[in-house]
Amino acid sequence: MKGIILAGGAGTRLYPISKIYSKQLTLIYDKPLIYYPLSILMLSGIKEILIISNEETIPQYKKLFGDGKHIGLSIEYVVQSAPNGIAESFILGDKFIGDDSVSLILGDNIFYGKLDFIYNAIKNNKGATVFGYQVTDPERYGIVEFDENGKAISLEEKPKMPKSNYAVPGFYVYDNEVVNISKNLKPSARGELEITDVNIEYLKKGKLNVEKIGRGVAWLDTGTPESLLQASHFFGVIEDRQGLKVACIEEIAYHMGFIDRKQFEKVISEIPKSLYREYLEKVLKND
Ligand code: G1P
Repeated sequence: MKGIILAGGAGTRLYPISKIYSKQLTLIYDKPLIYYPLSILMLSGIKEILIISNEETIPQYKKLFGDGKHIGLSIEYVVQSAPNGIAESFILGDKFIGDDSVSLILGDNIFYGKLDFIYNAIKNNKGATVFGYQVTDPERYGIVEFDENGKAISLEEKPKMPKSNYAVPGFYVYDNEVVNISKNLKPSARGELEITDVNIEYLKKGKLNVEKIGRGVAWLDTGTPESLLQASHFFGVIEDRQGLKVACIEEIAYHMGFIDRKQFEKVISEIPKSLYREYLEKVLKND
């Protein structure tokens, strides 16, 4: 299973910072937003990762993660030259995906809590697996409608009159067919290759599995200054209370066995004096 992080988008709702700065690099409490989705892929055991972003921002991601080797990953990068839609990821990532199946996470999506629904989807996926999460503002998302037996019957992208309150979060698991499906899509009215249209194709073929995510999981929005502040508070409270960091990619790499103790020590030694380094030293010491 390969993993793609799509970290594109203009982020204009965050203007003026969006003029100079990519949304996925903004700080959520104590680390850049993209650490959170990256950590989800890592916790799922995915080590081969493609980061897709615009030309300006890729050098910044490269500075952050390099080729990922130091944390036991293989990270590649591809440019999305215009915001042509989420489904373009599978066209841009064609070579990277090869004959494999693929999980896609959006670089601004944060999940927290019991993530078994993700791990199980990755383990058991046949065709496509996406999720449904109850929200109060469904018109902002891709929406899934269920019948009385809980079977998904329709999907719509940002409907004015949503048929349900179940939004489809930005984490998707697909078999290799997704590459062909994406290549045959037509752009939507907003000029994008829509991920919802990919999911509709799978639904038509009877190969779409939609799992409801329970209320014990937090799926946080990061589209506005207000929601960024909320997400920072959320993780600030948790980290402060437990003394444990969320989405600390070096710690995850070590605990997942992607790197051994020696490599972990080396990674730490290369981090400048900071609270982040102190935390990792504590992890090493207590292990
Ligand atoms: C995108 C997808 C939408 C999905 C959402 C999740 O929306 O098009 O289906 O529900 O991500 O974050 P956008 O980022 O274009 O608002």
